[in-house]
Amino acid sequence: MDLVIEKAAVLIEALPYIRKFNKKTFVIKYGGAAQTEDSLRESFSRNIVLFNHIGINTVIVHGGGPGISKMMAQLGKAPEFIQGHRVTDKETMDIVEMVLGGLINKEIVSSINRTGGKAVGITGKDGCLITAKKKLLKSSTSPTPIDIGLVGEVTEINPEIINALHTQGFTPVIAPIGVSDEGETLNINADFAASAIAGALKAEKLILLTDTPGILNKDGKTISTIRKDNYLQYTTDATITGGMLPKINACIEALDTGVGKIHIIDGRIPNSLLLEIFTEEGVGTEIVL
Ligand SMILES: Nc1ncnc2c1ncn2[C@@H]1O[C@H](COP(=O)(O)OP(=O)(O)OP(=O)(O)O)[C@@H](O)[C@H]1O
Ligand SMILES: [Mg+2]
Repeated sequence: MDLVIEKAAVLIEALPYIRKFNKKTFVIKYGGAAQTEDSLRESFSRNIVLFNHIGINTVIVHGGGPGISKMMAQLGKAPEFIQGHRVTDKETMDIVEMVLGGLINKEIVSSINRTGGKAVGITGKDGCLITAKKKLLKSSTSPTPIDIGLVGEVTEINPEIINALHTQGFTPVIAPIGVSDEGETLNINADFAASAIAGALKAEKLILLTDTPGILNKDGKTISTIRKDNYLQYTTDATITGGMLPKINACIEALDTGVGKIHIIDGRIPNSLLLEIFTEEGVGTEIVL
């Protein structure tokens, strides 16, 4: 009986959030690191379907780092990362497009649809969604920027295709591949793609699901809040490194473009999206102005 009462209390706690988020847009970055188990993918899909049923316009942007690295290894190529970005030559770009835009994208779509949703998988090429230019990284030792190949940074988001899909009740599932003005295909870090899409849609929330409980401090404890005016301390003292570097930078960009709230949460916990959105405590790290 106690359990039943508790369940009812949970539903009541969710009610104000259900009201508040009706017709609002959530952009969810589904990290490759959080997609590794079938059961997690199923729980993720159920959460997305629930959001749609209560009238939240959901956009999913996914990564796929582990899957891409696995395929590269099978084809005899060693993955290389600089400042958390994958060095991408033409062969790697082809692998990214096949694995990210094909296999992983359709796995997510099919999982959501099996759970009762209406997902449609696209890449940034579809409907001219993502225009990008080649990204060069700043070097700490030389004035010459670092060339990491066919890696892009977003220059423009055209949200028409997303709006068209939402109007018809579909959930867009987006692989972060962009095209340059010259027609070159570019690999875009999914955190940046999600942040730019959230900015273009003026999303209520941007949620990044990854494989850690949030951003961790040097003692391994989750930092509950990071502000725009103090995030640099964590990057300069190397608390934040690797794949978390583009993530925090993408979050700061999203804040600058007017995204309401940003959360980095643990995608390895079943129903972590629900916990974040429908409970008072929240989980993970929030990034705020
Ligand atoms: N301070 C930090 N707190 C938490 N994780 C950190 C920190 N610094 C570096 N990391 C690393 O960042 C990783 C998360 O980024 P990563 O790019 O690997 O995953 P993702 O972005 O979720 O997946 P994908 O890149 O495939 O979309 C963590 O697994 C961890 O190794
Ligand atoms: Mg990443």
